[in-house]
Amino acid sequence: MGKDEYLPLFETRVARGRIVYLVYAVSVMIGICAVFVYRATHLPAATQAGRWAWMGLFMAEVWFTLYWLITQSVRWTPIYRYTFKDRHSQRYEKVLPKVDILVCTADHTVEPPIMVVNTILSLMAYDYPTHNLSVYLSDDGGSEFTFYALLEASHFSKYWLPFSKKFKIEPRSPSAYFSKVCQPLDDPVMAQESSSIKTLYEDMKKRIDDATKLGQIPEQVRKEHKGFQEWDWVSSKYDHPTILQVILIDGRDPKAVDIEQEALPTLVYLAREKRPQYHHNFKAGALNALLRVSSRISNGPVILNVDCDMYSNNSESLRDALCFLMDEEQSRRIAFVQFPQNFDNLTKNDVYSSSLRIISEVELPGLDANGGPLYIGTGCFHKRVVLCGRKYSKDEKIDWSLENHTKVEESTHVLEETCKILASCTYEENTEWGKEMGLMYGCPVEDVMTGLAIQCRGWRSVGFNPVRKGFLGLAPTTLLQTLVQHQRWSEGDLQIFLSKYCPLIYGRGKIPLKHQISYCCYLLWAPNCLATLYYVVVPSLCIHRGISLFPKLSSPWVLPFVYVILAKYGYSLGEFLCCGGTFQEWWNDQRMWVFKRTTSYLFAFTNTILKLLGFAKAGFALTAKVADEDVSLRYEQEIMEFGAPSPMLNILATISLANLFSFVGALKMVIMDSQFIVLDLLALQILLCGLVVLINLPVYEGLFFRKDKGRMPTSIVYKSVIIAVVAHILALH
Ligand SMILES: *[C@@H]1O[C@H](CO)[C@@H](O)[C@H](O)[C@H]1NC(C)=O
Ligand SMILES: *[C@@H]1O[C@H](CO)[C@@H](O)[C@H](O)[C@H]1NC(C)=O
Repeated sequence: MGKDEYLPLFETRVARGRIVYLVYAVSVMIGICAVFVYRATHLPAATQAGRWAWMGLFMAEVWFTLYWLITQSVRWTPIYRYTFKDRHSQRYEKVLPKVDILVCTADHTVEPPIMVVNTILSLMAYDYPTHNLSVYLSDDGGSEFTFYALLEASHFSKYWLPFSKKFKIEPRSPSAYFSKVCQPLDDPVMAQESSSIKTLYEDMKKRIDDATKLGQIPEQVRKEHKGFQEWDWVSSKYDHPTILQVILIDGRDPKAVDIEQEALPTLVYLAREKRPQYHHNFKAGALNALLRVSSRISNGPVILNVDCDMYSNNSESLRDALCFLMDEEQSRRIAFVQFPQNFDNLTKNDVYSSSLRIISEVELPGLDANGGPLYIGTGCFHKRVVLCGRKYSKDEKIDWSLENHTKVEESTHVLEETCKILASCTYEENTEWGKEMGLMYGCPVEDVMTGLAIQCRGWRSVGFNPVRKGFLGLAPTTLLQTLVQHQRWSEGDLQIFLSKYCPLIYGRGKIPLKHQISYCCYLLWAPNCLATLYYVVVPSLCIHRGISLFPKLSSPWVLPFVYVILAKYGYSLGEFLCCGGTFQEWWNDQRMWVFKRTTSYLFAFTNTILKLLGFAKAGFALTAKVADEDVSLRYEQEIMEFGAPSPMLNILATISLANLFSFVGALKMVIMDSQFIVLDLLALQILLCGLVVLINLPVYEGLFFRKDKGRMPTSIVYKSVIIAVVAHILALH
């Protein structure tokens, strides 16, 4: 193809309206400077009450400003990507690269096998030549129920794949498809096939669920498949040899075809070896084992990594990703394509703010402009060579057609035996795996760290957020689950920041400064807890003694405060509405912002500091998995689920009560004061306190008014009332 005929496989557009944004950001910055001038010139004298409270507030504001400036790095120049799949198909349909899909599951009780196989089936049904597609499941739970489910899925796929391709259905996860499609369909042929396949699916689901529930695999099946014999050697999920079963393999197994005699994708089950004396490195260890095993079996040059609870909602995502990886001119430097994390079962107003809307719609395009989004461990397409440690060089070139023809010739049995060694505990000893190769070890958010290391080797990544989302996962359905999830994320992120992999140090000279700063947006989530806690507690406690921490209402200094608040929140609301949110959803997001910062981030922060100081991990009793039938119902009705006692709820309840008491006290003071002196002096403080009360309305409901099981546990009600009262007595003296 001549140079002049070159048509790009994807294009990049820069967001418009940057001038307006610049004006906004600069004006807020001027407002903030005015606030600082006020703080510095009006510091209470040493003899006056409230000097310390004042200085603390000042520090909190300095932190907020710093963090706000950091978040500007991902808002400055968002870019948006568009693909041309038809051009890709025209040029490459005959020489499409092999793609290896890696899925990890860890525990069949938390991640039900039926959910895992739905994910797998949606991936097997990608709109892609099946002999170029391989799906690998790593089961760290070493569960024969998961294996059994996968066997069942391989049978079902013989019907499911031809059906989904023939009628081009979407989404291709059977469970999502059947729950969304309402019968009858317009096309009678399709309606009939659909209903017979639905019966097949229901039967399979029942068999899998029954086996899991009874804790027993049907004897018949167990005899038929030699794979189950492997479990004779399993003493526990922490102590067993490698189990590797090639369930379907293209080209060698005559049974690996669907009902229309078309080939099926390769399907492999792996439970890597586990021994108590060897550290298994969690998901990173599992992915590295999969990387090695897949390199032996199919060795696809493109790797897709998906969590087992995220099904593919778009059968063309794979082709989208290839447009980014295979463009002749622009792809050389691209290491991976990250799709944002989206969720399937969000409620209308998203009570727990799980949609991550702002991150995927605003911050991802912003990061993309600065050097590429973070690798978040799911919904991500990698070039294999990059994941395995290659450095970027100017003459970087992957010959896709060549990479296609690595064929292994042994029998399936020999193949299984040779691959087992690759997944053994000792294989990684004295190798670069976990350091320079594969996923990195030693951090709870290994994926982010791995992405950073890849970018520091000279590569960049791209973010792709199509209208029809590529992958949909399950959002947490209770408050505690949400808070605990955020604790885990923010704790891991802070650990990276405080380690030698801190982007500001590790990335120096390797990635641009703005990219380093963009990373800090996330890595510094946790330290936000201190300033936020201070802001929601101290000003309201100061109201009782009439200590004013903000300018008087009659003073012109009040203007910068009001401007900064209005501009900041006005912008935030606008951003939310523009990204397709609702007002209520924004309000819920603000609430979760306070909740996360005062609990998840606080625990993450203290845990990290304690660990750093050499203390063992402080034992917070965290996840109490609430398994209740009403839980889902309340979730759908958007009623906040408090449920099980936890120190996190204690904090939330105490803060909300302390503010309620202050607010009531303040109202009394205002009413009794006929000359409006109190109002003049304390207006902003009372307003702040009132906002905290308003945002906490669901907490008061949960504390005092609700009768259902999801209300605040009684022990928390007592404890938090006592603490709030004591805090007030102390504040009064
Ligand atoms: C979301 O998923 C959970 C877990 O599968 C389920 O219990 C809940 O009913 C779902 N909610 C909605 C609104 O789909
Ligand atoms: C998932 O796919 C379905 C079917 O194509 C589509 O209607 C839906 O909007 C998609 N969901 C999201 C969140 O994009």
